[in-house]
Amino acid sequence: MIDETRRVAKPRSYLMCPPEHFAVTYAINPWMRPEQPADASVAMAQWERLRQVYLGLGHSVSVIDPVPGLPDMVFAANGATVVDGTVLGVRFRYPQRAAEAPAYLDWFRARGWPSVHVPQFVNEGEGDILVAGPTLIAGYGFRSDQAAAGELTRVFGRPVVRVRLIDPRFYHLDTALCVLDEETAMYYPAAFDDAGRAALASVFGELIEAKDEDAEVFGLNAVSDGRHVVLSAEATGLARSLRASGFEPIPVDMSELRKAGGGAKCCTLELRGGPGEAG
Ligand code: ARG
Repeated sequence: MIDETRRVAKPRSYLMCPPEHFAVTYAINPWMRPEQPADASVAMAQWERLRQVYLGLGHSVSVIDPVPGLPDMVFAANGATVVDGTVLGVRFRYPQRAAEAPAYLDWFRARGWPSVHVPQFVNEGEGDILVAGPTLIAGYGFRSDQAAAGELTRVFGRPVVRVRLIDPRFYHLDTALCVLDEETAMYYPAAFDDAGRAALASVFGELIEAKDEDAEVFGLNAVSDGRHVVLSAEATGLARSLRASGFEPIPVDMSELRKAGGGAKCCTLELRGGPGEAG
C-alpha cells in the first residue's frame, strides 16, 4: 500500500521568461535543427500553460522581459543559481547565449537582491546545478566548467558534489537528473559515469531510474514541489514510477520547446529565499 500523504508540497517561487523571441536559429546541442524551425506561437501557448500549472499549484511566478535576438532566453533555468537568497550569475559556454547573462543579473539587481555574484568560471546556472537539501550537485562535461564547483562552495557555503555528464543528448544536468525532494531523485543512469552514479547514490536515499524512452522525451526535465511533479506528457513510464512512489505527476506538452533542447524545468528558475526573506 502506498502512503499517499508522505509526499508534501512546499510553495515555490519561480522566474520564467516568455518565449516571445523563441526560435531555433543555431545548433548548440544535438536537439537543435535550424532547418526545422520552431513555432514561437505554439511555444508561447505551451509556456503559458506551464505558468498556469504552477499558479494552479499555488506557486508564485515572476516574469523577466525577453530580449530580442536571444531566442534561448526562455530557458530561465540557465539564468542564475539562487540559493538562500544569494544569486550566482551565469557564464555561457557559447557566444550565442552570452548576452542572456547580464539580462538575468540585472533583473536580480533591479529588484534589490542583496547578494549578487558575477561568476568567474563557465556555469550555466540551474541547468547544471541542482539543489538537494543542503547539498548542491554540479554537472559538467558539456557546458559548465568542472572548476565551477569550487566557486559554488565559496559563494553558497554549501557542500558540492560534482558529476560528469557523458551523453551529449543530456548536455545539461537537468536533462538527466531531477531532484524530487531532499532524499529522492529520478535520473537516467547512462548519462553519468560510474563515479557520478555512485555520487548520486550517496546523496539520495531513493533513486527512480528513467528508461531510454522517457529520458528521450525529456521526462527528467521536470519540476517537483515535493509532491507534484510537472513533466513532459510523453514520459508515461516515469509518470507511472512517480505515482508508485507517492508523487503526483502533472503532464505538460513542451514539444515545441524541445526543438531547442529544453523542457519544463529549463523554462523554470527556482528562486530560493527572496530579498528580505529569511532562508
Ligand atoms: N537551446 C538551449 C541550449 O542549448 C537549451 C537550454 C536548455 N536548458 C536547460 N536548463 N537544460 O543552451
